[in-house]
Amino acid sequence: MCGIVGYVGNRRVVPILLEGLRRLEYRGYDSAGLVYHLNNRLVRYRAKGKLANLEAVVDEHVGAASSTGLGHTRWATHGAPTEDNAHPHTDCSGDLVVVHNGILENYSALKAELQAKGHLFTSETDTEVLAHLIEDALTDDLVAAVREALSRVEGSYAVGVLWAGRPDLLVAARNQSPLVMGVTEDACFIASDIPALLPYTREVIFLDDRELVVLGKGEYTILQVDDGAKLVKPVTTIDWNAAMAEKAGYRHFMLKEIFEQPQAILNTISGRIIADTGVVDLPEIGLDHQALKAVERIALVACGTSWHAALVAKYWIEKWAGIPVEVDIASEFRYRHLLVNERVLTIAISQSGETADTLAGIRRATQLGSKVLTICNVVGSTMTREADGVLYTHAGPEIGVASTKAFTCQLTALFLLTLYLGQLRGTIDPATRRYLGGGLIDIAGVINAELPRLQEEIRDLIERYYDARDFLFVGRGLNFPIALEGALKLKEISYIHAEGYAAGELKHGPIALIDRDMPVVALVPKDSTYLKSVSNIEEIKARQGRLVLVGTAGDTHLTSLTEDVLYLPEVLEDLNPLLYTIPAQLLAYEIAHRRGCDVDQPRNLAKSVTVE
Ligand code: G6P
Repeated sequence: MCGIVGYVGNRRVVPILLEGLRRLEYRGYDSAGLVYHLNNRLVRYRAKGKLANLEAVVDEHVGAASSTGLGHTRWATHGAPTEDNAHPHTDCSGDLVVVHNGILENYSALKAELQAKGHLFTSETDTEVLAHLIEDALTDDLVAAVREALSRVEGSYAVGVLWAGRPDLLVAARNQSPLVMGVTEDACFIASDIPALLPYTREVIFLDDRELVVLGKGEYTILQVDDGAKLVKPVTTIDWNAAMAEKAGYRHFMLKEIFEQPQAILNTISGRIIADTGVVDLPEIGLDHQALKAVERIALVACGTSWHAALVAKYWIEKWAGIPVEVDIASEFRYRHLLVNERVLTIAISQSGETADTLAGIRRATQLGSKVLTICNVVGSTMTREADGVLYTHAGPEIGVASTKAFTCQLTALFLLTLYLGQLRGTIDPATRRYLGGGLIDIAGVINAELPRLQEEIRDLIERYYDARDFLFVGRGLNFPIALEGALKLKEISYIHAEGYAAGELKHGPIALIDRDMPVVALVPKDSTYLKSVSNIEEIKARQGRLVLVGTAGDTHLTSLTEDVLYLPEVLEDLNPLLYTIPAQLLAYEIAHRRGCDVDQPRNLAKSVTVE
């Protein structure tokens, strides 16, 4: 939800800002803008739409002599995606600029107050209020004026501020929106996310809520917004590199990330399981063994694709660790009456570690006395700092807005956690643990072997389906959440209406939708619910539904039901969700590409949802 980037150093600032924005564009692409200091003036460029539109007006010679600036890429909340509403926003004089990610909830009252004082507004955004508030408080101390303005606003912000009066300074602050600093010997950076920093530095400092930083060339001071007290914070070294956030010859990030899954899954498993015994070791988890043994219930909390991972984990944990599991969408969890206490372990699942609703959910669980474990991909993100324990997925940076490798790595981490809990609580015998652990270790190799063939077959298959108006996805048991995930992937990137259902639920309503125009993707591995699923498929066929079946190699019965069958090798039943996700992702990808959609930046979406 909006990306901000800033630089103070000795290099040309405009290319650094543009590169940073390119790496943050997944956060929003309604407009883009940048500003830099030049000859005691601030020079601003803005353009509606994608970053390419800004790049068209900011050529490589622009601002060649400047080495301090800010950039912004917008996901619109207040005000339409127009150039006037694009950041950076200025005060009345144009000498002070602000970029912002978040929502200033009391902006209307503040705007009325500032207008009454004579301030002139040029946008419909909440952000512009902040520029005028700082202007109102400014004499010659920029930091004091920013602190005073921030004391008046309610809501979330990651902000960057520049003032023509102090060309040597960049001031930034955060509250409930992510902000990370990058440091080198002679320069300082700010960014909404790590990929923007990777071409320049891997040394970062994560800012916490209500902290402010004053950046100069290679020097910085961190303060509390509220009392101005100075803080010393640790520098963290990130183990990602710049190339990991590049397309590496693939047409889209999403396709690259689909193909990276075998390696990413291996990275998530690496060092955590002993092949011969299936014994799982999660030393970094940071939660007391006795407490984990005593847990009476688990509350899984997540949004979007991460919520689908939680749904799969419920089946695993209840079956193998014997702990009752509730699964909540975070935006529901945070506001409902929760029966959560110190005997409940709350597990938040999040790729980014910044999703506003999930973060609010873990804060509520903590208030109620629950220990919180977060399963997260981004090292140092807010959730990982607020949780009692962390289990990292090692998917590497995920740039495509539609989550792929982060999901399969979440499943991998959750399966490891299941084995770990079962081991601690004595609910899995050693032979079963070895068998399940061995299956997990093998799954990456199986996916690796199947990916190229699947992509080819799906490319042919979608010629018959890419122009459909609607799609249904069905699955039973562990494959029901994968049906939901298949439908979500398809709708978010191809804009085809799609729904996922538990196969047995079809006859309670959705079967009314079936006719010869309705494609139904059914996930039917030869598992313990196979015969029931086949009956449901017969019901669809009897109503002329257009079936695409995904099942187990050698199951010839499927070809008697439809000509469109995708076969997958047999793996452990528990691990089918990891394998059956792959064709669902490829189907969505190939259809979206065939329809000419912008796969990596689907309309209206943003990868990291830091607003409610
Ligand atoms: C957005 C993204 C999804 C993601 C969800 C939760 O909607 O587009 O891909 O699953 O947020 O994000 P998180 O970072 O918490 O997993």
